[in-house]
Amino acid sequence: MNSTTTPSSRAAAPRHFDPAIAEVALKGLRAPRKTLPAHLLYDEAGCRLFEAITRLPEYYVTRTELALLRQLGPELRERIGPGAAVVEYGAGAPAKAALLLAALDRPAAYVPFDIAEGAVTATAEALRQRFPGLALHPLVGDFMDGIALPELPRPLLGFFPGSTIGNLDPEAAVRFLRKVRAALGEEARFLVGVDLPKSPEVLVPAYDDAAGVTAAFNLNLLHRLNREAGAAFDAARFTHRAVWNATDSRIEMHLQSRQPHSVAVAGVPIHFEAGETIHTENSYKRSPDAFLALAAQAGWRGEALWLDPEGLFSLHLLAA
Ligand code: AVI
Repeated sequence: MNSTTTPSSRAAAPRHFDPAIAEVALKGLRAPRKTLPAHLLYDEAGCRLFEAITRLPEYYVTRTELALLRQLGPELRERIGPGAAVVEYGAGAPAKAALLLAALDRPAAYVPFDIAEGAVTATAEALRQRFPGLALHPLVGDFMDGIALPELPRPLLGFFPGSTIGNLDPEAAVRFLRKVRAALGEEARFLVGVDLPKSPEVLVPAYDDAAGVTAAFNLNLLHRLNREAGAAFDAARFTHRAVWNATDSRIEMHLQSRQPHSVAVAGVPIHFEAGETIHTENSYKRSPDAFLALAAQAGWRGEALWLDPEGLFSLHLLAA
């Protein structure tokens, strides 16, 4: 699907030049194969578009994981035991945390941890109302930098839903899993959502939907660079592409130039050939064995594994 659909709020978003974003954008755009870091997709408009993606009929990920979380409740409650503290990495979906906390036996504390302060506060607020006795410790930071946890009751359960781990390449995924292992310590458990490999006929539409929401999500990156990196992209000159890379078992998102043209980014001209792409995101799809091999490199062992009946998605319970 080609689309230049853009969020209606964009016109209202102010321009504010951020030298750090310009620097990171230029580094990627001057490389022989142009690339932009995926975290730049998630400005305010990008987060709203991602929320819309999670409700798309083609995007099976969110509804399948929610159904799995509902189903695994009793077994998880048994395995974890009473009074747990839950640490959620990348908290932005209170519905998932609410299902997990409701499944556990009298959870004592919840730590939503995210780079977006708004997401952390909103998640904590939503759960405060639903679980009045729960101690809440919102934390703002980049989960790739590690985390200094407050004093928490035991047992500790980390939670990383949504297959966000699929957006990390294997080395970064192992680094992240090691940081979590170090932060949560001995006897901790870690519940991780991992999307499974499947037919490109299912995968490609999930990342290139008929309504063009994923296209708008990807193209929003160019609008962001116009506002924050002093760029002059014309988004109509680019097309969203979702490509299945079977060798690396990942969906790649690209922005493909429709014609040869140049764009100034912070005063530096960047030339695009017709058909040339900017690689904007990877979403790795990992079999249980592939994921457990990464987890083992970080000192985790698999304790339990749940799959939905169609074999679309997996939830791993790892033990330290
Ligand atoms: C956030 N992450 C798990 C999503 C995924 O499926 O890789 C990001 C996304 N990109 C396009 N659609 C969804």
